Amino acid sequence: MRGLILSGGKGTRLRPLTYTGAKQLVPVANKPILWYGIEAMVASGIREIGIVISPETGEQVRALTGDGSRFAAQIAYILQSEPGGLAHAVRTARPFLGESSFAMYLGDNLIQAGLAAPIERFEANQPEALILLKRVANPTAFGVAELDGQGRVMRLIEKPKVPPSDLALVGVYLFSPQIHAAIDAIRPSARGELEITDAIQQLIEVGKRVESVELTGWWLDTGKKDDLLEANRVILDEQVHCPMEGSLDEATKVSGRVCIAKGARLVRSMVRGPVTIGPECLIEDSYIGPYTSIAGGVQLKNVDIEHSVVMEKTRISGAGRIVDSLIGQRTVISRHNGKPEAHRFLLGDDSLIEL
Ligand code: TTP
Repeated sequence: MRGLILSGGKGTRLRPLTYTGAKQLVPVANKPILWYGIEAMVASGIREIGIVISPETGEQVRALTGDGSRFAAQIAYILQSEPGGLAHAVRTARPFLGESSFAMYLGDNLIQAGLAAPIERFEANQPEALILLKRVANPTAFGVAELDGQGRVMRLIEKPKVPPSDLALVGVYLFSPQIHAAIDAIRPSARGELEITDAIQQLIEVGKRVESVELTGWWLDTGKKDDLLEANRVILDEQVHCPMEGSLDEATKVSGRVCIAKGARLVRSMVRGPVTIGPECLIEDSYIGPYTSIAGGVQLKNVDIEHSVVMEKTRISGAGRIVDSLIGQRTVISRHNGKPEAHRFLLGDDSLIEL
């Protein structure tokens, strides 16, 4: 079985960050979101992985992720010339996929459970497709599946007004090569994309078997800021391996689960985990509260920050309280005078904020 990870797309819901970078490279607990999918595939025994990339951000994805050797896998990059939809991405990847069955993972999705159980079921029952489903409170916002008593999928409906179930489609799928014929048979949807749900529905309509597995662990789709912060919270909560390699002065207090990477320096500061701090950071006279990830090379001075993600080489000084924020790379936020208040930011790379 091969692996296909979709890392193209437009990323409109994460603008302005996605004007300069791929949303799949935004770090969650200081690791690019995309890498969680790669690791899940490798852990389930998949070694040949294709990553679909866009002309705008593909080179960044390739430069950071490499040829797969860091994951003990082989990674091929597949350029999708335009964001024509998830089924269009599969069609673009067809030369890579050949006649293999494959696992497809949306590059901005994270699931708690590994892929081993769905793959085992796929290989035992040999359906044409196997989809993962998760019970949600608001099915009208998702693609929803209607099942028969055996978990076989009867129908898929995109954002139904009257949902037939509360089982939403998760961004992880297993396909036999029959999916390619189904994709050839469908037309673009009203939004102009070739939809993978239409291709799966097409399989059902020509009498092929589509099965499902219900996820019990968490599933996170990080397409928007608050979802991304939630993913950061969940992953920081579960992170067990937590190195403490940086240096702290005597006036610094650290409590809870806090990872501090090599070369990071903390001076007269307080950190309450779960928190992760990347390499070569300088944190002075600051408070870093729970569920915060600070990437490498960041400098904070007189900052009170909590439940936020700060990307590489950003510098913040005297900004008062920052909560629920996602701040791009190399951003500069500084305050010269005035009373500090609480701020909430979604800032792209290279922003400059003077308060
Ligand atoms: P989406 O989040 O559905 O689409 P998007 O990335 O265009 O984002 P937005 O809705 O905010 O504009 O895509 C899910 C995943 O699939 C994501 O990792 C991007 C990827 N993708 C492709 O690789 N090719 C495509 O044509 C599309 C639509 C998405």
